[in-house]
Amino acid sequence: MIVFKHSKYLRLYLGYIKRKGLSIGFVPTMGALHEGHLSLISQSRKNTDITICSIFVNPVQFNNKDDFQKYPSSIENDILLLEEAGCDILFMPEEQEIYPDDASKVKHFDIGLIENILEGKFRPGHFQGVCNVVEKLLKIIEPSHLFLGQKDYQQCLVISRLIQLLNLNIGISICPILREPVGLAMSSRNRRLNENERKNAAILYETLNNIRNKLPEENFLKLKQAAISDLENKGFKIDYLELAKSDDLEILENSNSNNSLILLIAAFLNEVRLIDNLMVKD
Ligand code: PAF
Repeated sequence: MIVFKHSKYLRLYLGYIKRKGLSIGFVPTMGALHEGHLSLISQSRKNTDITICSIFVNPVQFNNKDDFQKYPSSIENDILLLEEAGCDILFMPEEQEIYPDDASKVKHFDIGLIENILEGKFRPGHFQGVCNVVEKLLKIIEPSHLFLGQKDYQQCLVISRLIQLLNLNIGISICPILREPVGLAMSSRNRRLNENERKNAAILYETLNNIRNKLPEENFLKLKQAAISDLENKGFKIDYLELAKSDDLEILENSNSNNSLILLIAAFLNEVRLIDNLMVKD
């Protein structure tokens, strides 16, 4: 694996790859890699000629300073994991490389209603921050295909919209969520949970499954209320638990719809904020 810190040299190298007519698969990450990320690398390797991963903890997408400071980092282990997974290129820029000055952090993208619902409502500015960094990474790398994890489902839709806005010809694959044996969705933030919390956190997935199994016979709003009070009794603080159309995340009150639907949840367990989702009807 070749590691680049500077976009100038990365671009030169990628120019050579592209002149050979090879396709480039891109997996953007913030490091603290786990099997979920590695499954994206594996998908990219199956579908493209060259796989590039980026590791950059993007300060602009954190609306909470504490969350940014506590974001886990394990760069040496990440490099080993990427090598083992057969990643071809790692791009690991410094902040100065991505944001040379303050003005370079504040571009606004018209991503529509999706910006301020669900994650966007509870993390104001988060998706503009994601768009800012992803636009820069896409312009440097110019990949043929992007591999994203379904765990951040709303982010996947935001990035699709960004690609449309930028009029780029980049394919997107949304890859399935990988789970710990107890059912907890894999996430870099899980490292901040102790063993007991990890077991408890699996209740989020159980809750989504229970609701899915009871729909459409039972009323979603009643199921939601019961689930929230159950989770609160177990020590969770719920940001949201919603049923939505999977193509645009329009929030619904019931499952009487012919559209493909998704359940989404975000909750704090002590200090750690966890998200998960489950397709109801594909
Ligand atoms: O999902 C992530 O890790 C980040 O939001 C991303 C897409 C790498 C942008 O910083």
